[in-house]
Amino acid sequence: KNIVILISGRGSNMQAIVRAAQAEGWPCRIAAVISNRADAEGLAFAASHGIPTEVIVSKEFPSREAFDAALRVAIDRFSPDLVVLAGFMRILTPALVEHYDGRMLNIHPSLLPSFPGLATHSQALAAGVKVHGATVHFVTAELDHGPIVAQAAVPVLPGDSEHSLAERVLVEEHVIYPRAVRWYVEGRLSIDSGLVHIADAAQ
Ligand code: GRF
Repeated sequence: KNIVILISGRGSNMQAIVRAAQAEGWPCRIAAVISNRADAEGLAFAASHGIPTEVIVSKEFPSREAFDAALRVAIDRFSPDLVVLAGFMRILTPALVEHYDGRMLNIHPSLLPSFPGLATHSQALAAGVKVHGATVHFVTAELDHGPIVAQAAVPVLPGDSEHSLAERVLVEEHVIYPRAVRWYVEGRLSIDSGLVHIADAAQ
């Protein structure tokens, strides 16, 4: 199976997926890493692992639709079975989301449906929740609302800052996202009429 990963920055989730795929010998090829920012730190890691990289700068397009159309062409050049959003900080048009229906995953740093959108860790601190975490979900047109594939919870500790909480959540992101992508490439993860099915999820 071909996987295309979209990033905007650091790309630590992308790295966790690439490392797991290599170490565990997944039946897939990370076909490309595409960024909407030329300065995304993750691009260097991808290139150093022999993964083709591409940059499509959103500012160079007159509209969201035009950018998404170019993005779609760039992604589809690699014939992806799965598109993985890994810290890709762009809201996608419904047309693009529809095109990858059932084959696009995202990771969001909160226990959805709590705290969609940005600044999830400060949202969690402000709400005073005692448990926070991360969610892997299929992407649908409604931002951060797609069917949930996997979640991991972490405690919110006294004295936590946004930074300390983000670090604790990120450790778990690097566990659940590679695992979910692995399920997909092994044909164990599917979605039918909005319902997620995972075969043998315990393994
Ligand atoms: C992660 O916390 C991810 O959940 C969120 O943005 C962050 C990206 O980090 N969407 P990285 O680029 O994967 O290191």
